[in-house]
Amino acid sequence: MSLAESIKQSVSSGVESVEKSAHKAISNPKQAQLADFTVDYTKDRGIATHFGVLQSDTETALKAGIRGPTLIEDTHAREKITHFDHERIPERVVHARGTGAHGYFKLHTPIPEVTYAPILNDTTLTTPTFVRFSTVQGFRGSADTVRDVRGFATRFYTQQGNWDIVANNNPVFFIQEAIKFPDVIHAVKPDQAKEIPQAQSAHDNFWDFIGRTPESLHHVMWHMSDRNIPRSYRMMQGFGVHSFVCVNAKGQRSFVKFHWKPKLGIHSLVWDEALKIAGQDPDFHRRDLYDAIEAGSYPEYEFGVQVVPEEKEHDFDFDLLDSTKIIPEELVPVRYIGSMVLNKCPDDFFAETEQIAFCTQHMVPGIEHSNDPLLHLRSFSYQDTQLTRLGGPNWNLLPINRPVCPVFNTHRDGYMQTQINKGPNYWPNRFGTPHPVAGKDGGQVLSPQPLPGGVKERVRGPKFSEHYSQATLFWNSMSDVEKEHIVGAFSFELGRCDDKGVIELMLEQINFIDNKLACLVAQSLHLQPPKEVHPNHGKATKFLSQINPVNSNNAFTAVGRRMALFVHDGFDFGIASGIKAAFAGMGVIVNVVGPRKGKINSSTTGTFLEAHFTFETCRSTLFDGVFFVGGRGPEYDKLKRQGRWLHAAREAFMHYKTVGASGSAVDWLNKYALPGEIDRLVDNLKSEGVVAEQGVVLAGSQVKEAPMLIKSLTDEMSKHRAWGRDVSAIAA
Ligand code: HEM
Repeated sequence: MSLAESIKQSVSSGVESVEKSAHKAISNPKQAQLADFTVDYTKDRGIATHFGVLQSDTETALKAGIRGPTLIEDTHAREKITHFDHERIPERVVHARGTGAHGYFKLHTPIPEVTYAPILNDTTLTTPTFVRFSTVQGFRGSADTVRDVRGFATRFYTQQGNWDIVANNNPVFFIQEAIKFPDVIHAVKPDQAKEIPQAQSAHDNFWDFIGRTPESLHHVMWHMSDRNIPRSYRMMQGFGVHSFVCVNAKGQRSFVKFHWKPKLGIHSLVWDEALKIAGQDPDFHRRDLYDAIEAGSYPEYEFGVQVVPEEKEHDFDFDLLDSTKIIPEELVPVRYIGSMVLNKCPDDFFAETEQIAFCTQHMVPGIEHSNDPLLHLRSFSYQDTQLTRLGGPNWNLLPINRPVCPVFNTHRDGYMQTQINKGPNYWPNRFGTPHPVAGKDGGQVLSPQPLPGGVKERVRGPKFSEHYSQATLFWNSMSDVEKEHIVGAFSFELGRCDDKGVIELMLEQINFIDNKLACLVAQSLHLQPPKEVHPNHGKATKFLSQINPVNSNNAFTAVGRRMALFVHDGFDFGIASGIKAAFAGMGVIVNVVGPRKGKINSSTTGTFLEAHFTFETCRSTLFDGVFFVGGRGPEYDKLKRQGRWLHAAREAFMHYKTVGASGSAVDWLNKYALPGEIDRLVDNLKSEGVVAEQGVVLAGSQVKEAPMLIKSLTDEMSKHRAWGRDVSAIAA
């Protein structure tokens, strides 16, 4: 048995295997429908005009004489240019930058006491879904890893019509009222005069707005936390934010918040890494999602509900209709009732990801609007903007937007009508069709709801005026490391503001959240630390920290991670191929990084590995762990002068990542890459052994403990970061 095989067989603990067979790309009604609209250009095809006339030349236009002017008579040339001229459509006014994937949803626990919607009752259904992940602030071409809220919009193609949960990765929103949405977005988007900065909140206008809008402070705590620099769309929670209303068969109403929880855990980048990746690979999150799905490592999210029966609506010290508040899970636990798997990338980004038109008003019978003042105008806004973005009222006919159930109504005509509608276009009519459908036969009947009495006026409910309590709850719930990151984020963002008044106002507001936080931020900006004006209530919830293991929402696994294997000609084949094979079997993506792309020869005659990246075409930031394979020969003799290796080791170490080395690379790591950082660990290493501490894994040149090496590496990778590591002496 080869070393690779023995490693593969003997690794069992610490890592779940990727259940590829269970998640095989499935065909479903939505995929079948899309297939009808798909044109396959991978087959042998002749180029024709839009109107079917085959063309013999698409590279040279018709001219009057060899060097003469181009003729307008050339239909094909004109059509080609005209179509190109109109290829672009307006990008989304917010969430312009995004990426999508198809998948499916399966329910495992019906909730008939909450809703009669079949999708949340029938466990035999497999409902097709499409998800679009996005950032909010930036233009369509902006970088993926900026500090921003992430959109997590999901469409369920149910048999009762499309149901969209247009969610974010933060459970609360900036503002309580939709009428303020244009203001918060104008404030965060680039300055009107200079159109800078792009996709960033670190500027005067944003913090000016926030300082004058205390209801945004809870959201701002999420924004300043690690949540808004996620490691991957695969490692992000999703929240429907609003309390929606669900209705059961008896007509009883409940408030329901929807949750998505990633199977791979909730993990983030570190700020330095996020900044660097924005330049090194602006498509980092897109690529990550695409690569994972193509590799069969399908992202999976559990679906949960928090349910409050209508009669308990007023049992809380906050208003359930206030989208700047969470319902702490200690008060109302999340019940996980199903899961979604993303298993197919779109074939055509524009036709699918760009043209999908989500809307909060896309609800199926049994799920309804609540009176959240952020929700109704929001539902209006989506369809309204899509009229412009997609060029008219018929975007429902675009393949990605079509429901999988039959659709008949009396809506007609308009730009780009693609349906030939035969028969009555009004109701009532003498033909009796298309007719309304009674509730008992599946027609939507909105549940009767008593209206709160009162006067018509521009007001908010009394509990909407408390803004600090949950911002403080969030701060109190963070681990020390996460608190440090929040202080760092505030310091960066306010440090980028030029207006002293904006900074001072924000410090005043932060001081209402927590005095220590305000003092730390003030210190970093060389400002006077403020006196305490509002004592911290001391309450915390255990469901928010991404680092504290008591948060049962999080998971720690090496599955779905990416590891770089650095090799030079003359590397030890046994170790390198062993790691590669064992990791591949566990769903860890391994990329070989070598002095050139392609074949890199090992020290064993006739054996080699294919390098995916060269030392120049990648950086440590693109990986969750880096391993330097030892070896022999002239390249290894020169390692101490290998700048890219030194940089990769130091940078990964500084970002608290797993850093490994074997054989001759251990000595190099100790003496040149990380001098003074790993002496003790190296002293404990025997030539046949493996040692690991704080995310550093070292293997001797004669390592016989191969399974132990893999186990140590996967254990360290699954911790995500070695937060206990002292990185203060490292610059990279
Ligand atoms: C709970 C608060 C909110 C959440 C979670 C949220 C989430 C989202 C998400 C995820 C998208 C991207 C959809 C996609 O991928 O296509 C989006 C787009 C958009 N949102 Fe919101 N949003 C919120 C509030 C609002 C409000 C209050 C308004 C307006 C009053 C609004 C207006 C828009 C618009 C116009 C778009 C672009 C839609 C398109 O062009 O297709 N959003 N929002």
